[in-house]
Amino acid sequence: MGSSHIDLTKRHTDKPTFSAEKMAEVQGYIQSYPEGKHKSALIRILHVAEEEFGGWLSIETMDYVAEILNIQPIEVYEVATFYTMFNLEPVGKHVFEVCRTGPCMLVGSDEIIEYIGNKLNVKVGETTADGMFTLKTVECLGACGYAPMLQCGKKFHEYLTKERVDEIIESYKEGKVPN
Ligand code: FES
Repeated sequence: MGSSHIDLTKRHTDKPTFSAEKMAEVQGYIQSYPEGKHKSALIRILHVAEEEFGGWLSIETMDYVAEILNIQPIEVYEVATFYTMFNLEPVGKHVFEVCRTGPCMLVGSDEIIEYIGNKLNVKVGETTADGMFTLKTVECLGACGYAPMLQCGKKFHEYLTKERVDEIIESYKEGKVPN
């Protein structure tokens, strides 16, 4: 289940517009559904929109997606607010989503969350002052056998220890995706 509201104070100042490349990707998703069912491409398009517009979905972005799909904005808001995977406010360049569900908790996810928070000087839900990292907690990401773990973008980081967290943060700071 997702967050229950949209913060209307968080906005993009300009109307978002997909690059030609991203628009081609979006149109590809739309065309993969039959006429009258184009709305089924919504979640995939929202992922593209997050990638394209700074990692989060503003009201303007959601309205733009509604326009492309020829649906009501509320139909986009309903989906975007239901799923926690979508960010409805600005986030850092790298978003750490640390799993806090039972199997991860049993092997120390609480300690890892606290360690990351202290290291980055943020609380859960906050972004570092330099805009580099956001710390979030999430429910099971299906990698319980590799716990404790976190997801950052499309990458899973597993068997986390404090030393491993240090390495991961350093790599992202250096502009590399850690192994
Ligand atoms: S409980 Fe953490 S990935 Fe499943």
